[in-house]
Amino acid sequence: MAIIASNFKTNHTRKSTATFIEELNSFLDEKSISSDVYVFPTATSLDEFNTVSNLTLGVQNAYATAKGSFTGEIGTEQLDEFGIKTILIGHSERRHILKESQEEITKKFNFYKELGYTIIYCIGEPLEVKEQGLEKTLEYLYEQFVGIDTNYENLILAYEPVWAIGTGVTATNNDIKAVHSAIKQKISKPLLYGGSVKVANVREICSIDGVDGTLIGTASWVVEDFKQIIENTKDL
Ligand code: 13P
Repeated sequence: MAIIASNFKTNHTRKSTATFIEELNSFLDEKSISSDVYVFPTATSLDEFNTVSNLTLGVQNAYATAKGSFTGEIGTEQLDEFGIKTILIGHSERRHILKESQEEITKKFNFYKELGYTIIYCIGEPLEVKEQGLEKTLEYLYEQFVGIDTNYENLILAYEPVWAIGTGVTATNNDIKAVHSAIKQKISKPLLYGGSVKVANVREICSIDGVDGTLIGTASWVVEDFKQIIENTKDL
């Protein structure tokens, strides 16, 4: 069963998120779609959504704390209010733009692991690493597993090459296959691909050996498109 996840990043308001979730939920219900669907809205748009069992709301980020003095951050006290038990960790935008170190990421991972959260753990290499070939790429990616318990039961991995995120340049099927099969040989966890996945290419990408689903940004923000993406992969 495909895992289809939408990362809203810094998009949608509280109101438009509610409309999106409501529409998506009715779609999954009416069409009896059984794919595992995840949506990661902004923290300000979290709410007590009443959803079908295969639609899960998660948070894009949170601090490794229940509560405290961490200006601008949220902790589990805020997440518990909405029953959130799913988190994205290690996204390239947090690693590269927000400068989260592997050490901080590991700390966050361990904190949320202890609480039993489903963790979608993201890894990916920048263009200059990709250009050095597969061996260097894998070396770089394995560095992103330092300190991470890859046997954690509620772990889902997402391979998102940095150069493919939000650029319209999707990795080739061969690139995806090579990286996914190498990771799969080491870690037996569901592995999503992310990076410029669209309505038109989602089925092909999700059909590649070693791809268990996808984590989508841009192409998932219009609910009609996201529904089409789910429709296109529902039997995989
Ligand atoms: P895009 O789908 O916009 O390339 O973003 C992918 C991503 O970063 C999902 O987390």
